[in-house]
Amino acid sequence: MVPIPRVGPGAEFEPLRIGRTERVFVLTGAGVSAESGVRTFRDAGGAGFAGDGRRPQGGASIGLWYEHRIEDVATAKGFERDPRMVWRFYSERRRQLPSVKPNPAHQALARLAQEREVFLCTQNVDDLHERAGSPEVVHMHGELLRSRCHSCERPSFVDAAGYFEEPPRCRCGGLLRPHVVWFGEIPFHLERIFAALDKCDLFLCVGSSGAVHPAAGFVSHLRHTGRARCIYLGLERPDNAYAFDECRLGKAGELLPGLVDLR
Ligand code: APR
Repeated sequence: MVPIPRVGPGAEFEPLRIGRTERVFVLTGAGVSAESGVRTFRDAGGAGFAGDGRRPQGGASIGLWYEHRIEDVATAKGFERDPRMVWRFYSERRRQLPSVKPNPAHQALARLAQEREVFLCTQNVDDLHERAGSPEVVHMHGELLRSRCHSCERPSFVDAAGYFEEPPRCRCGGLLRPHVVWFGEIPFHLERIFAALDKCDLFLCVGSSGAVHPAAGFVSHLRHTGRARCIYLGLERPDNAYAFDECRLGKAGELLPGLVDLR
């Protein structure tokens, strides 16, 4: 039996007390960067939803990303079919990134890491947690400002360049690709992530619709081990709400700064 989660506006909840020795696992999704002006994938105003706020039938495979089909810009097949178009898509995202700034949610999480033991795992490919001052960020879906070879084993490397004409090539002759995890690919750092999940006392998920696995399943994994408090913070009830103890609804940038009581 799993208890029913408490779901309600964030203002109805007490501040979260986090003991000095508690280990905190923070998972962030697109919602944490929404107030910085980065579009989310699946909220009511986002591209993956019908105009009336309903999810389209069929889930991610028919969702749109910035007016593109996911199959075209977020799968290895799409890249192999049209690398130039995929590079234009990610180059445009790279070009926009410097004008996007961290918001109070990123800043609150950076402050939390100064006071408590925090493992910060993000599904986001932006660098806003780093720019807000978070000391270590585990990017399970990769990083927009890195590239790697699509053919050889050369490790990923920092690359902020835009490729709007010819797709770039590796010294081995193969195509370079953005260092991001596409649909059908295995996210990065899963071993470290599950080790941290198994040790945590508090799981705090911020701004993720709970629609994309494996991240969407972290909270259920914790339910089996049973020791961590599991709190969701975001604009609307996520798909995996049933597995949380509490879902505090509201904007991350408004709720997070006052959420944590560190006395
Ligand atoms: N504050 C908090 N939450 C917000 C805010 C906000 N200001 N704005 C939107 N949200 C919530 C939305 O209500 C939604 O539930 O953030 C969530 C964003 O969900 P998604 O767009 O699905 O993002 P995410 O869960 O991170 O997606 C996971 O899916 O498409 C892939 O690789 C992509 O990393 C991404 C993964």
